Amino acid sequence: MLHIVQHPLIAQELTKLRDPACPSPEFRQRIRRIASLMVPAVTANLETTVVPCNTPLEITSGVKISRGIILVPILRAGLGFLDGFLDLIPHASVAHIGLARNERTLVPEPYYLKHPPVLGEHEIVILDPMLATGGSAIQAVRTLKEAGARHVRFACLVAAPEGVSALEEAFPDLTIYAASLDRCLDSRGYILPGLGDAGDRLFGTCG
Ligand code: PRP
Ligand code: URA
Repeated sequence: MLHIVQHPLIAQELTKLRDPACPSPEFRQRIRRIASLMVPAVTANLETTVVPCNTPLEITSGVKISRGIILVPILRAGLGFLDGFLDLIPHASVAHIGLARNERTLVPEPYYLKHPPVLGEHEIVILDPMLATGGSAIQAVRTLKEAGARHVRFACLVAAPEGVSALEEAFPDLTIYAASLDRCLDSRGYILPGLGDAGDRLFGTCG
């Protein structure tokens, strides 16, 4: 299921982010801000447990999020999305998955994986600004499920319809959160209108 996170502040930030004149430091700040603005929607249906809550005056009832949260940025560009999530969920653990899309075949090539030993009892939020063909997202979800993950959601900034369809077909139960559903992919697998190569723009590695 695709959930578009709509908010005027997100839409305005994304407009500035798409501008090729937006330099890396500003690009990083804006992605971080959008990520934080998306957190309430991405976490809105987390299961909670009622717990006792002491106040200075009496005991009342409070709330605790039932499962621990693991954030999983897909390297590199997912790192740009991570800090905005950590700003609001500082107690989350962070797992890393390294995938580099082959520019010719568009197939993601895995190069790194590090996660806590037990995933099944946690809420897993995979982070990547770009969902293009869906190959990287599918590979990330598959890898984490094979490692035991059961409660997985995927958050991105810009999604292409092709990537959404592929991810939904591979994992019909997965919820995909995106700030924008863009038009389509171009012949090189870039999202249109998109924002270009998110990793290169985040880390200043454009040619
Ligand atoms: C980009 C992006 C996604 C992937 C999306 O990463 O951050 O991970 O492409 O494309 P897909 O949906 O077609 O798989 P890339 O592999 O270019 O690596 P980078 O983040 O290191 O730039
Ligand atoms: N990866 C990006 O960074 N941008 C795109 O448009 C597609 C894949």
